[in-house]
Amino acid sequence: MKANRHGEGMLGGFRRNARLLFRNLLDSVVRHGPVDTDQGRAEIMNQNFFLHIFPVSVHKNTLRFGYTLGLGVIAFVLFLILVVGGIVLMFYYVPATDQAYQRMKDLEFVVSNGNLLRNIHRWAAHGMVAAVFLHMCRVFYTGSFRPPREFNWVVGVVLFFLTLLLSFTGYLLPWDQLAFWAITVGTNIMSYFPFVGKEMRYLLLGGNEVGQEALIRFYVLHVAILPVLLLAVLGVHFWRIRKDGGLSRPEEDASPSAPVPLPAAESGAEVFPPDTRKTYGLMELVRGRTPMVDRGPEDTLMAWPHLVFRLLTLSILTLTAFMILSLLVGAPLKDIANPQFPENPAKAPWYFLALQELVSYSAFVGGVFIPFLTLVALMVIPYIDRESTGTGVWFHSPRGRRIAWLAGLSTTAVVSLLLFLQIRTGGMRGLYPDAPQWLVDVINPASLLLLYLIVFFFVTGYVTDSLREASVGLFTGFVTALTTLTIVGVYLRGPNWEFFWFWQSWPVP
Ligand code: HEM
Repeated sequence: MKANRHGEGMLGGFRRNARLLFRNLLDSVVRHGPVDTDQGRAEIMNQNFFLHIFPVSVHKNTLRFGYTLGLGVIAFVLFLILVVGGIVLMFYYVPATDQAYQRMKDLEFVVSNGNLLRNIHRWAAHGMVAAVFLHMCRVFYTGSFRPPREFNWVVGVVLFFLTLLLSFTGYLLPWDQLAFWAITVGTNIMSYFPFVGKEMRYLLLGGNEVGQEALIRFYVLHVAILPVLLLAVLGVHFWRIRKDGGLSRPEEDASPSAPVPLPAAESGAEVFPPDTRKTYGLMELVRGRTPMVDRGPEDTLMAWPHLVFRLLTLSILTLTAFMILSLLVGAPLKDIANPQFPENPAKAPWYFLALQELVSYSAFVGGVFIPFLTLVALMVIPYIDRESTGTGVWFHSPRGRRIAWLAGLSTTAVVSLLLFLQIRTGGMRGLYPDAPQWLVDVINPASLLLLYLIVFFFVTGYVTDSLREASVGLFTGFVTALTTLTIVGVYLRGPNWEFFWFWQSWPVP
């Protein structure tokens, strides 16, 4: 057989050309150099579509699990699980009141792995609400909402709102008793909102009650409008993280490392003090292998592999945990929705149960005043607290940590006491059946709790002379009250919204 100019036979030539073709193909897709150099690692991050959102190197503090707790990433992974699972679910679901429930049953008994699909969608939705809320707490407690990140905090508040709406609109879709009455209660709470409440409810339900019009509206919001909106706002959120200089970090990490004087013996030259009449270039004043004054390579690590591998590990762990949960625990499905037969108790989804509890004391204070005040406080906090000390430090300072403990414990005690008095006396209405409504609105557990939190805020502010530490106390009191009331709503409220201990059984109707 004749050899070619490379001295190869036909088979050898074919192999060489195939290798070349493969190499060209690979080069057209993968454009980075060898990954054993910083240059190659930087190229991976820059050239990859999915990775180029990250910087090529990140500060060490960003990689500390104890700082972020990975909560933003977990929330995002859950969102991805929800999108992928939700699209598959759309192949089976029909948003019609005479078919929706049957489709749920089909998922359970007919579609292969349909139950697993439904379970993971349900648990991931609950998980996302919890993860986003905890992420918000982490951002607050580390003071990461301060300049330049104040706008990203506001974007985050919008994301939180969208997450709640996404979960709420999905709640109706199974069209069972749980869904029907939870949405009925949830939208009733909405109608307490002054001026526009009733109109908003009408618009959302497409009528005065939950029915076919509501189902189709919730469906369109759930599968199209809200996910697209959330994705768009998430894009802004991630973009702002980059533009704000990456994640926040403690000052000592953020400030330029103090220049260490070179020992004369090491530099091999006599060191003179700088001449005050001369202008020096940066290169002459900064010690180290790089002229970067602020974040030198000493404080940073390459994003590949340090950040990317951590993100991958966290994503796989999140997916695995929710897979296991979905294999073990089934998503609830009660009887088909029956508008003639109300659930008793009819409970809103768990993340609105604190609100439902507050509304049970006073519709105006619990359903309107407190939610409105909370929203305003969340939106304005980054524009009020503009101090720079303590940013990137959990609870701001050791004293801030002690204040958080005090706020948490004292708020639990206050909530328990108010609940006890309310149950014992029946509240203002129980003590004075003829009391005017405005008096019931002024004196009830919801307004007294609010008063306690405000007093706590001003007293700690006065004693510590620190707005930040007082805010840590207020926020902790708020989160504790929310958690306690949610636990009460989920576990301790029975028929007619009466109080039952965990171990007490409800009366049989
Ligand atoms: C769908 C919901 C959300 C997702 C997927 C998300 C995702 C993320 C991720 C991945 C990060 C990077 C650091 C980390 O993991 O902690 C981050 C940072 C941040 N997030 Fe979110 N987030 C969401 C909602 C929120 C909310 C509700 C807030 C506040 C109200 C918020 C405020 C911030 C801020 C200020 C940062 C920068 C933190 C820093 O510099 O330390 N985010 N977010």
